[in-house]
Amino acid sequence: ASDSPRLFGIELKWISLVTLALQNAFLTIIMHYSRITTAPNKTYSAAAAVLLNELLKGSISTVVALKRIDDNMTSQGSAWHEKELKRDNRNAPAKSPFTVFHPTRLQALARGVFSGDCYKLAVPAILYVVQNNLQYVAASNLDVATFQVTYQMKILTTAFFSVLMLGKRLSRAKWAALFMLALGVGIVQLQTTGAGHAAAPVPVPSPTIANNVDGGHEHALRAEIPAAAEDAILAPMRVMNPFKGFLAVTLACLTSGLAGVYFELILKSGGGGGGAAPDLWVRNTQLSLFSLIPAVIPILFAEVPAGMSWASSVASKFAHFNGWAIGTVLTQTFGGLITAIVIRYSDNIMKGFATSLSIIISFLASVALFNYHVTLAFVVGAGIVLSATYLYNSPNVPDAPPTRTAIAV
Ligand code: C5P
Repeated sequence: ASDSPRLFGIELKWISLVTLALQNAFLTIIMHYSRITTAPNKTYSAAAAVLLNELLKGSISTVVALKRIDDNMTSQGSAWHEKELKRDNRNAPAKSPFTVFHPTRLQALARGVFSGDCYKLAVPAILYVVQNNLQYVAASNLDVATFQVTYQMKILTTAFFSVLMLGKRLSRAKWAALFMLALGVGIVQLQTTGAGHAAAPVPVPSPTIANNVDGGHEHALRAEIPAAAEDAILAPMRVMNPFKGFLAVTLACLTSGLAGVYFELILKSGGGGGGAAPDLWVRNTQLSLFSLIPAVIPILFAEVPAGMSWASSVASKFAHFNGWAIGTVLTQTFGGLITAIVIRYSDNIMKGFATSLSIIISFLASVALFNYHVTLAFVVGAGIVLSATYLYNSPNVPDAPPTRTAIAV
């Protein structure tokens, strides 16, 4: 997208892709550890984490949308509100943080958020909430590396839905690049679960975390944890069910592709009724509002344990949010916001490349920080991923010409 704004002279498009790659590497690890390092009855509720994520993301999106109202007033066709806002701002005390929440501004945002086509966001909202819950199921039942590699199937589901719904036509070379990408990621990851084990610098206590990526991060964690406490904190205390994990990952790949492409379709297809497309942050606010409904239902309608009141049952869902859990929620919220920016200024397929590169980033970080050995499989796999990225973005490999238009939402 040529309308990508710049930050420090660099296009926001590229900043957001690199940030997403880093965020993704970090999220996979922190989410897994946050789930497996406590006994099941002491583990935080995934449903509560998803709800907190949505609340936080919704609040941030609302504030950003409010702040941006000045810029977007004209494009949203409300000259009157623009004038009102300017007048009111003049009367308001200078630099008060509350000017963002000025009633005129709130009113203008409400008009934008509850505009005619807001119901469209219900589809990606529900899909994302389902996906975010599935991700916790997967992270609780698969080791970090296996989860990361199987989750890359979303590159293919995303390409599939982009072709189907956005009318994107990918040349054969681009399809080849996508399959190469999935293959390269597979090779990078398989060596960490298989033979790569030998490359771990010292034996690790649990077979479920005995691989390069996990092992490395375990050492990173160990450095900060008193020796006596470390096993109690780091040894997995949950039994993992790989079949359940794989099923969750497969469904999450489908919802990821569908929700992402649907969001892209809404974002890039105008405001309905011929109006200008609403601001990204208005769309994010709409998405969060719709997400609250499916996110809150599992909390309010969960089975109440015998001898417990409904209120204390609901409150108990918010127990056990230790540092790991809070870190997971914050990382996920940050990731959601970055994802939205990537979808806005690049597209979902480029997002797939960014997250694939995150696997290479986390491995290289392990080499630099934890003394891992670079294996042949890593060099081959990373080489394939990088070639695929180059091939996909090569100017000599254009998209095939579109033969039909995107489906209307
Ligand atoms: O795995 P995937 O990249 O599809 O994950 C997308 C994540 O980004 C989901 O957790 C979703 O909730 C979040 N998201 C968001 N706001 C958007 C788009 C995606 O929070 N506008």
